[in-house]
Parts: sequence; C-alpha cells; structure tokens
Amino acid sequence: SASDPDLVARARAAKDKLGDKVFVLGHHYQRDEVIQFADVTGDSFKLARDAAARPEAEYIVFCGVHFMAESADILTSDDQKVVLPDLAAGCSMADMATAEQVAECWDVLTEAGIAEQVVPVSYMNSSADIKAFTGKHGGTICTSSNAERALNWAFEQGEKVLFLPDQHLGRNTAVRDLGMSLEDCVVYNPHRPNGGLTADELRAAKMILWRGHCSVHGRFSLDSVNDVRERIPGVNVLVHPECKHEVVAAADYVGSTEYIIKALEAAPAGSKWAIGTELNLVRRLANRFAPEGKEIVFLDKTVCFCSTMNRIDLPHLVWALESLAEGTLVNRIEVDKETEAFAKLALERMLALP
Ligand code: 13P
Ligand code: SF4
Repeated sequence: SASDPDLVARARAAKDKLGDKVFVLGHHYQRDEVIQFADVTGDSFKLARDAAARPEAEYIVFCGVHFMAESADILTSDDQKVVLPDLAAGCSMADMATAEQVAECWDVLTEAGIAEQVVPVSYMNSSADIKAFTGKHGGTICTSSNAERALNWAFEQGEKVLFLPDQHLGRNTAVRDLGMSLEDCVVYNPHRPNGGLTADELRAAKMILWRGHCSVHGRFSLDSVNDVRERIPGVNVLVHPECKHEVVAAADYVGSTEYIIKALEAAPAGSKWAIGTELNLVRRLANRFAPEGKEIVFLDKTVCFCSTMNRIDLPHLVWALESLAEGTLVNRIEVDKETEAFAKLALERMLALP
C-alpha cells in the first residue's frame, strides 16, 4: 500500500542520496504520505516564492499540480529542473481557460471598445499561457492570499478588471474586500458567442469574471453552512475564497490555505471549527489540533479530495526521487522561453505587490 514502510524507506534513501541537489515542495492539499517528505509546505503563493529562493537545488520536485510546477519553472533559473511526480496532476479550474478562448475574449473586449481600460488579473491557478497573456496586457497574477492587493493595484492601472479563471475568487474579493456590488460583476462564458454578454453589459461592468470554478470548493453550499451551524452550536465557519459567494457570505472567516492554518493555530482551546477546503488539509488539521482541544470538522461530508492533487502519491514520489538519484531526469515541466518571459512579468508584478 501507499504507506508501505518499504516505500517510505526508499523515498528517504533516494532523498538522502540527492542531498542538497533536490528540494521538495508540498502544497497543503497533498496526501500525508507525500507531505512528510516536503522540505517546505505552503499555499501556492508561498511555494512560488520558496521555489525561487533555492538557487542551489538542481531539482525542484513539486508535489502539487501542473500550474504550480510551471510557475516554479518560470521563477527558477534555466538550469534548475522542475519535476512533477505525476504528469496527470492537472487542475480542472486551470483547464477552464485556454489560450485560444482568452485571445477570443480579448477580441470581444476590443470590439466593445473597452480593451484599453481592462487590466487582466489571473489567479495562480492558470496555465503558463494565461499568465503570459496577463503579462503581455499589463496585468498581474494573484493567489488567494493576495487577491485583494492585486485587485487594488489593477484598479489603479485601469478602470476594469478581467479576472481569470476563478469567478468565485474574483467575485468574493471584489465584493467582500473592495466593497463592490454584485451588479458591478458580469460573467464571461467562453462557450457562448461574445461570452454571452452584450457590448453594453461589458461597458457597464467593473469586474469581468471568467466562468471558471474549482470542482472541489464549488461543491460547498449554503446548506452545508446552515447544517453545520445547527449541528454544532457556536461553530466558527472558515472557508476558502474559491467557494461560491453565498457560502463565503455566510461564513465567519475566509482565507487561503495558509490563512486557515494560522487561524487554527491561533484559535483558543475548546473552540469549534467547520472548514470548507480540501479534505487532506482538513483531516491533517483536525488530527493536529485535537490534542489541544480544538474541534475541527469538514464543512460538508459529501465533498471529497481534489482528485488531481491526490494523483501525487508515495509510489510516484519514490519513482521520481529514485530516478533523479540514478541520474535520470523524469517528468520535467518546462515552459517555453517566450511564454516564460511574459508569464514572468506577470508573476513578478505579483511578487512586487505592496
Ligand atoms: P491556495 O494554496 O493559494 O490557498 O490555493 C488553493 C488551491 O486550490 C490550490 O489549488
Ligand atoms: Fe484545482 Fe480546485 Fe484542485 Fe486546487 S483544489 S488544484 S483549484 S481543482
């Protein structure tokens, strides 16, 4: 099985053999069996910075999903190699915005006469192509931990924002943090002619939200919040901003994975929490804080793991580490030079946000 002591010993041996040549990054949604081998863990913002801060590591093994490995490749030097232990670890949200669709959207905005007022802001959860588009058009990347700052910055550069690809993070940040109204936001549907919007609707909007969402967080509902409040009186509801607006509006606290961890670290003994984010992380936090008397439950038992995050399991990690230890480079994620240059521009704007 995956927690096979033999596999654990093999992973440890391969990692020891590689020494400083390898640096293993683990996103908070990774399995326990994988996260135990991470040199650092973090949310996607922290991991992007940590990858860039390890110039001595020849190999960056990214335990996370494809767009994160691409971002690490963009931010590290050319001779550093980023490895994703399973190439099938994609992200359904990132796949909801393709380069062709976004180019078409820009044409629609141009025809409506507003492209010059629009600043693209793309969530980290997007392909390198989308990040390059963003950089090329004067925009920035954001993550769930700096979306408010990114939007404030963007509205200093232009009058409108095209937010890609997560409509929920875009809407939640605009409404909760920037005080906009729901009517300031429109949703661009890439599967409909002109995004399903009239030129007048586009001209009136401040936030043009791409019609993408996370298949995991999108499943938490207002009912999940109401049910847990009934079941556990006094519970604090804490959710990730990829959840729907009605869920976020009904929650007590909202934040990135890193924020969620810090909030629970600071929580007093005896407090009760219902968490709306990916299950690996929630389970780990529930186990970690139970001895301190903090009761942590999953917001909705019908929601499950992120299936693509879970593709990185111990057998894949062992295979990647052993291959590298034997001098065979496997599963390298490499962004082409032109895409990299523009995507880097957008990522660096994010890293420079005040
Ligand atoms: P953060 O790590 O930025 O909270 O993102 C969550 C996520 O869904 C990553 O795929
Ligand atoms: Fe993508 Fe959602 Fe999985 Fe994150 S949790 S990798 S956004 S599908």
